[in-house]
Amino acid sequence: MNTAVVSRPSPSSLPLRARPKLGLGETIIGREEEELVLEVIRSKRLFRYTGSLPPSEQGKMATTLESETCALMGVRFALGVTSGTGALEVALSALEVGPGDEVIVPAWSWISCFSAIVRMGARPVLAEIDDTMNLAPGEITRLRTPKTKTVLIMHYQGVAADMDALMPEARAAGLRVLEDCAQSPGAMYHGKRVGAFGDIGIYSFQNNKCMTAGEGGLLVTDDPLLYERAVRMHDLGLYRSPHELRAPSRIPTFCGGQYRMNEMTAAVALAQLRKLDGVRAHCRRLSKVILDKISGLPGLTFRRIPDPSGDSGFEIYFYLPTTEQAEGFTKRLHARNVNCVKITGTYCQYERDYCIHRATYTPAASPFRDDADWPAPGYRKEDFPMTENYVHRFVCLPLGMLYTVEDAEYIAESVLAVYHDTEG
Ligand SMILES: Cc1ncc(COP(=O)(O)O)c(C=O)c1O
Repeated sequence: MNTAVVSRPSPSSLPLRARPKLGLGETIIGREEEELVLEVIRSKRLFRYTGSLPPSEQGKMATTLESETCALMGVRFALGVTSGTGALEVALSALEVGPGDEVIVPAWSWISCFSAIVRMGARPVLAEIDDTMNLAPGEITRLRTPKTKTVLIMHYQGVAADMDALMPEARAAGLRVLEDCAQSPGAMYHGKRVGAFGDIGIYSFQNNKCMTAGEGGLLVTDDPLLYERAVRMHDLGLYRSPHELRAPSRIPTFCGGQYRMNEMTAAVALAQLRKLDGVRAHCRRLSKVILDKISGLPGLTFRRIPDPSGDSGFEIYFYLPTTEQAEGFTKRLHARNVNCVKITGTYCQYERDYCIHRATYTPAASPFRDDADWPAPGYRKEDFPMTENYVHRFVCLPLGMLYTVEDAEYIAESVLAVYHDTEG
């Protein structure tokens, strides 16, 4: 690597700084969450649907969370559920994904992006990612078959996928789009929030996320029929009066599950939703401090962000030419007390046990039961040269709400020091 373009701090001359505590929404839980939770406790109404109240007064926290989500994300309907995984299952059910169907999903994604499809009895069809670490344009066209029903677009760690390319590709193929925004709530793409592009968007409020309630999830849609199907799926087939107020019923009941959000979860999620853009602003400020100092280093290529102005900014990625270099770089940064492990459990699905063993809760429900040989093409490492090219040679720099500008400056100085040290 050429080092002429930057000053050369020496690793030994840079005093070690304490490692800041990681964390996003979780670390800023405070008075606002406390007050809303207390309000629920004092009301003694922890269940969302209190039949003794008029429909418009039932489930105050869940209803407010949903209406404020709609306002922030620019969508017509929102529905609180038990988790992000639950939201995926409810969304796929609303989209009528079932046995015999295929769903295109990035190979590099979270467990439930795969398992939720399998639990519907449908087949996850794994797609390549590109240097954005999101679904690669062209994959929908390559992988589409007459059985394909839906595309799951996951927005990885605060960065919107390349929606200008992906949405027309999905629509040209006649496919519905499910956006998984669990890792990117509030992220934008050319001024529009993720979740507002596809047919349904989902969110998670699990602990690691930008906004958290410990557990919890939510889905959004503009389509009243998908909304009704989602409501019915999440509540035992019911469509209670508070929902009827928002969108009059059009379909009869069906056998649903139980994915209802309770008022305590909704209270915490509501307080966190109100802080979401603050989280984004803080992380973007820190991210800029770092990027201003380390961009342009020869040999170090940054994750491509299709719309940098929409990035949530809480995890910076750059690639080095080889896996060994990336591992060495990470080790050295770690020794300098820089947090540099990814904070999400995102993996190549084809390397996970449930995929390797094509395991389902019962073999009869498996979408893979008719595959004579396993792993079949499309579920083997060698089928994913693009994905393999990116996922083994990145260095990542997660940021958190307890990080200061001084922490960000230290991270940048450390990257420069390790970079020059590596150069010898
Ligand atoms: C992309 C993605 N989708 C879905 C989920 C599932 O969310 P939950 O943990 O709330 O079930 C996660 C959780 O980490 C995720 O990262």
